Amino acid sequence: MKADILLGLQWGDEGKGKIVDVLAPDYDIVARFQGGPNAGHTLEFDGHKHVLRSIPSGVFAKGAITNVIGNGVVLDPVLFRKEAAELEADGVDLHSILKISKKAHLIMPTHRLLDAAGEASMGSGKIGTTGKGIGPTYSDKISRHGVRVGDILADDFDSMYASARDAHFRTLANMGAEVDRAAFDKNETEWLDALEYLRSFELSDTEHYINRALNDDLSVLCEGAQGTMLDIDFGSYPFVTSSNTVAAGACTGLGLAPGRIGRVYGIFKAYCTRVGSGPFPTELFDATGEEIRSIGHEYGAVTGRERRCGWLDLVALRYAVMINGATNLIMMKSDVLDTFEHIKVCTAYRLPDGTVTDEFPFCVGRNAAGVADVEPIYDTLPGWLTDISAARKESELPQTFRDYIRYIEERVGVPVSIISVGPDREQTIIRE
Ligand code: GDP
Ligand code: IMO
Ligand code: MG
Repeated sequence: MKADILLGLQWGDEGKGKIVDVLAPDYDIVARFQGGPNAGHTLEFDGHKHVLRSIPSGVFAKGAITNVIGNGVVLDPVLFRKEAAELEADGVDLHSILKISKKAHLIMPTHRLLDAAGEASMGSGKIGTTGKGIGPTYSDKISRHGVRVGDILADDFDSMYASARDAHFRTLANMGAEVDRAAFDKNETEWLDALEYLRSFELSDTEHYINRALNDDLSVLCEGAQGTMLDIDFGSYPFVTSSNTVAAGACTGLGLAPGRIGRVYGIFKAYCTRVGSGPFPTELFDATGEEIRSIGHEYGAVTGRERRCGWLDLVALRYAVMINGATNLIMMKSDVLDTFEHIKVCTAYRLPDGTVTDEFPFCVGRNAAGVADVEPIYDTLPGWLTDISAARKESELPQTFRDYIRYIEERVGVPVSIISVGPDREQTIIRE
């Protein structure tokens, strides 16, 4: 079997958690390949809402589905324990369905301090991170100073941890960051305690497990976090996260050879949102943006921050489809636009020198002020002015809405296979 991937095509929060939960019953394994507790993946069913951060969104699916936290993930033991305990309280037997890669890197309490100090040092140029220590943990991984999940099984773990921590303290001192030692000691004790809980899970070389499973014809769904426009290489650098959120990240983040990848599901909202700083060409600063935020409940699942809202950006979407080799599109939150008389879609950008392009340009990612330095050029389409949230079949959707989907498919060149019309598991239309 080939492994399928589901990932975000925009700036995150596209609805990945919901759709992984919907698709999971069709798979034997669901595996997270990057990111950490910066993610907030929301699942809704039976009138309950669950937010997952580091644990894959396949944990609620009925059937014998194994969930994997891959080597590309960065794991905070304290947040993991909290998330896992909530799931176990909800009746999920997590210990029997979750495997964690020994090669995943650990987020240490000092990584969070470094994240905060880094942001503080940048003033108004800050990235607006989630404050979970993501950047410093991946920096340590790349600079070969990281501490991994498998290390907690080693006899010399204590000294390995202490030397990494002390190096972080020296960096913090060089940055002029003040550390509240009493608060830190408390966090450290909690962190060390949470490692005991982490040790109670199956910690293994999950790349062997996943490759063996594919050899044995089992099916795998790789779950991404964040979105393509937050990718460390292809996103709006430096206003990005610190991992490869794109399809290639599933290969490095799980140990899958490129030839083992099958479908790539690219997920996007019928409009765009972004949390944190950085360029966002179609951002709306007017009442329309506020309306989208209020109808779509666009507030961060992790930090509660307001999400910036804007129209669908086909320049960025086509770019994301290209980088990921998306084979299928999934359109989310279409219902949020139900009451809009006109819907705008950005088809090209006018660059600062006046030229027009429909290829995502370098300058969009380099505006240090965090403001897009391109002018979006829009098509205006008629709204469907119909409540579509109760639709369960394509035939129940208004023609104007179906025309909107065809318009996107024609311009992006990839079929929309799934349409989501509400947050609940049931509010999903599978087209194939
Ligand atoms: P993720 O990070 O990609 O998993 O997305 P989030 O969970 O952070 O954000 C998506 C939000 O939209 C969540 O609150 C979902 O419950 C909600 N949601 C998902 N799909 C739909 C949809 O089709 N319509 C509406 N109105 N809400 C949705
Ligand atoms: P999910 O998986 C939306 C954003 C942060 C910030 C930037 C860097 O739920 O879609 P970081 O803490 O990663 O160093 O922050 O990336 N960001 C997200 N935005 N959804 C996410 O995850 C995000 N994870 C990080 O707001 O701008
Ligand atoms: Mg989210």
